Amino acid sequence: MAMSGKFIETELQRLNEAGLYRRLRRVDGDQGPTLVLDGKEVINFSSNNYLGLANHPALREAAKDAIDRYGCGSGASRLISGNMTLHEELEAKLAELKGTEAALVFNSGFQANVGIISTLIGEGDAVFSDALNHASIIDGSRLSRAQVYVYGHADLQQLEDCLKQASASRRKLIVTETLFSMDGDEAPLKEIVDLAEKYDAMVMVDEAHATGVYEPNGAGIVAKLGLGDRVLVQMGTLGKALGGFGAYVAGSAAFRELLINRCRSFVFTTSLPPAVMAMGIAALDLVTKEPERRLALSDTCARLNAGLKALGYSLANSQRQIIPLMVGDADGCMRLSEQLVERGIFAQGIRPPTVPPGTSRLRITVMATHRSEQLDATLNAFKELKEEHDTFPR
Ligand SMILES: Cc1ncc(COP(=O)(O)O)c(C=O)c1O
Repeated sequence: MAMSGKFIETELQRLNEAGLYRRLRRVDGDQGPTLVLDGKEVINFSSNNYLGLANHPALREAAKDAIDRYGCGSGASRLISGNMTLHEELEAKLAELKGTEAALVFNSGFQANVGIISTLIGEGDAVFSDALNHASIIDGSRLSRAQVYVYGHADLQQLEDCLKQASASRRKLIVTETLFSMDGDEAPLKEIVDLAEKYDAMVMVDEAHATGVYEPNGAGIVAKLGLGDRVLVQMGTLGKALGGFGAYVAGSAAFRELLINRCRSFVFTTSLPPAVMAMGIAALDLVTKEPERRLALSDTCARLNAGLKALGYSLANSQRQIIPLMVGDADGCMRLSEQLVERGIFAQGIRPPTVPPGTSRLRITVMATHRSEQLDATLNAFKELKEEHDTFPR
């Protein structure tokens, strides 16, 4: 007899009772500063389309042109017959932006992290991972079979203690996001690199949320701090500020070769289609040529951050376009999100396991294309909510 699937209902009920049930919401139209959510127009503070490129005419045209010239699908994995001119063109541009010898494109950031970590380390090795690292880094670390050391968020002392404990490990790898996805704060990267050198560890960074956003040229935090020569692996995504889809890793030419030979999430998957590569190329051109997008983003962040603080909201230590408005409990957080949607503002509530228990928050993400009057309307909605519920949010 077939096994009963009864646990499915029980699990869903458990999630519901814990305030952790998730449902998909439908978005119509494109990912602009406003969007249509479940049929209602809202100002969009829930997108990683930070520079507004996801609906930019240059990306649309590039994708259409690539389809006309190269067709729709890539047909196979890169090592079989799916390595097209556009993949290599995009990789050359990414390497140029990052100032590395080489780059390699991945189908998604999740696949990149899972595959890269297992390529660098295995049994007998050690990986040191910030407590707030993305799920793909956590899963990649587990899959690698290396000993996993999780250090407190940005806690250099704990990181050093872990490095000391692991002194007998064969290879050591420190992995950190540079701009943290749910907290919007920057890792102490210079100090992490110093520790890595002291304890002979490799450094891998995830620039998913920093790519496109930081000067110089949108290259990210490694470039901003001039640490390119001291960080072995720089990964990032094409689906956030770059407005398209997919991911990349930048590093040495030898590392690229190793990944092509050994990285399972690169080898055993159909390569990204030409239209996606063309969008990436078009986005990189815009990012380098139009620094004004980054300036607009930074002004908008500063304004919203200051406005919310002036209203008495508790914000975590956000340094950029990700502004976490801390609520605490999961139910309260989702209620606040719903009340904002009723007022035409969409800021998604983020709950465990995406963030640690008791730290549910609205993750407010700003776009370079938000207009001044949209920010006014948003701050006004937050003001009204504060007045109506003076005990909420705390
Ligand atoms: C820090 C971080 N790394 C990796 C990923 C995964 O990237 P992708 O969406 O391309 O799979 C994300 C988000 O999705 C992320 O926030």
